[in-house]
Amino acid sequence: MWILAVILHALYYISPAYAANSFALLLGGGKPIDSGKNFRDGRRILGDGKTWRGLFVGLLFGFLFGLMWYFFSQSGPLNEVYYGIFDFRITDPFFGFYLATGALLADIIKSFFKRRLGIKRGRPFWGVDQLDFVLGALLFAYLLAPTFIILEEFIFLIIITPAMHLFGNLLGYKSKIKDVWW
Ligand code: CTP
Ligand code: MG
Repeated sequence: MWILAVILHALYYISPAYAANSFALLLGGGKPIDSGKNFRDGRRILGDGKTWRGLFVGLLFGFLFGLMWYFFSQSGPLNEVYYGIFDFRITDPFFGFYLATGALLADIIKSFFKRRLGIKRGRPFWGVDQLDFVLGALLFAYLLAPTFIILEEFIFLIIITPAMHLFGNLLGYKSKIKDVWW
């Protein structure tokens, strides 16, 4: 039971960050955040993969996910859900917004460093591509949200996220949403 609580609570807690990342990918595009400008090294500041629409829909859906858990925690099915130390009640309506902000900021910062390293937009930066948004989201949650996860949940997320990320990208590639399988 304990391990199941670790898995369920960790995925529940990180869900706004997953939502932010997925919806940015699904609905992103259009005007790039860096306006197409180059950095002083002659390479793009961020590249075409970081757009205003992606940022906006990512923040919106991350926020909505957290808001949904918040309302469920107020009066709905999550009101009395806790298992030992695992409290499923979200008491801050902006919980999802914090996670989404951390996730998308980390993703943008990552792209900045990818471009400085000469890695082209959309090319893989193994490890970093898969974990940037979770680490950013958890950092923001740690600093801003009233609750946090335990070490076991953190370890679980660090292991499971790259696997889910790859699986999601593979699905996106097969269904022609993404051009590359990574
Ligand atoms: N996306 C977006 N805006 C964001 C983040 C993501 O529009 N702020 C969309 C883009 O269409 C992007 C896709 O989600 O191509 C996948 O995101 P990501 O893998 O982070 O970007 P890459 O295209 O791989 O670019 P980079 O090399 O800079 O990581
Ligand atoms: Mg990528």
